[in-house]
Amino acid sequence: MTTQPSLFFPPLDSIVNVASVPKRSVFRYPGGKTWLVPQIRRWLASLASPPRLFLEPFAGGGIIGLTVAFEGLAGRVLLVERDPDVGAVWRVILNGKATRLAQRIREFSLTPAGVHKALATRPRTLLDRAFLTLLRNRVQHGGIMAPGASVMREGENGKGIGSRWYPATIARRIREISERRDRIGFQQADAFAMISFYSRAQNIALFIDPPYTVAGKRLYRFSEVDHPRLFRLMRDVRGDFLMTYDDTPEVRHWAAECGFDTARVAMKSRQHAEKYELLLGRNLAWARG
Ligand SMILES: C[S@@+](CC[C@H](N)C(=O)[O-])C[C@H]1O[C@@H](n2cnc3c(N)ncnc32)[C@H](O)[C@@H]1O
Repeated sequence: MTTQPSLFFPPLDSIVNVASVPKRSVFRYPGGKTWLVPQIRRWLASLASPPRLFLEPFAGGGIIGLTVAFEGLAGRVLLVERDPDVGAVWRVILNGKATRLAQRIREFSLTPAGVHKALATRPRTLLDRAFLTLLRNRVQHGGIMAPGASVMREGENGKGIGSRWYPATIARRIREISERRDRIGFQQADAFAMISFYSRAQNIALFIDPPYTVAGKRLYRFSEVDHPRLFRLMRDVRGDFLMTYDDTPEVRHWAAECGFDTARVAMKSRQHAEKYELLLGRNLAWARG
């Protein structure tokens, strides 16, 4: 059940057409890294051998880890996320209850009143919590689930509250992820603890995409990260790693302090503005080659 990735790797300064990247996550995640998928394939292909473990400690919507698992780019993938609502979704999909979650999604009749009523209920089970998280993710502006985020009225593209609710697609993705659960694990945990745990492991690759916004907009319930501490932690890991950040003087300063290599990669923001993000790692020669 391994899908082969394209052998064509775009250069860092060309903007990836995200329509060409298979969508595998059940979330529409703020700060999601679909656009980085071609570079991740390129990075992993540059390693001497496929990593035994691919660790994604700030997993969110997990598009990178899912791609690695679907395309057989590592032996196993471990997603880690601190947010218990996001965690509930991954736990249900990977613990054998995926079919029931998919059924709840297909059977939900989406109306503005129905959404408001559902989102006002307190989840009683993990399955409830997973369902309500996915519903919230699909009906709130920009998929933002942080406290204070609001439900769309006009919807995106003026199509109303259901403009991002695709039950058949979400249900299919749930099934496809669940079918690969022998090679995808999930831990609801703190990224720092998990990175420390695997710090001495060899033949492992870590993808690090922590919350970091210059604009100060709160996109996640857990948005506070001690970045200098994270950089020091990454400096000491034995495995190979790739980090991604906004390109700011502060980030470049932390990178220089730890002796990390950097490369700029082009992307399009949610508002369709062309911008650059920064990749950081021990040696990014593969990115320039
Ligand atoms: C930038 S988002 C990751 C997006 C992800 N790469 C994607 O493509 O969907 C950062 C994620 O880190 C999570 N997070 C924040 N602090 C964390 C921590 N200490 N441990 C684990 N996860 C954390 C947030 O809840 C958020 O989901």
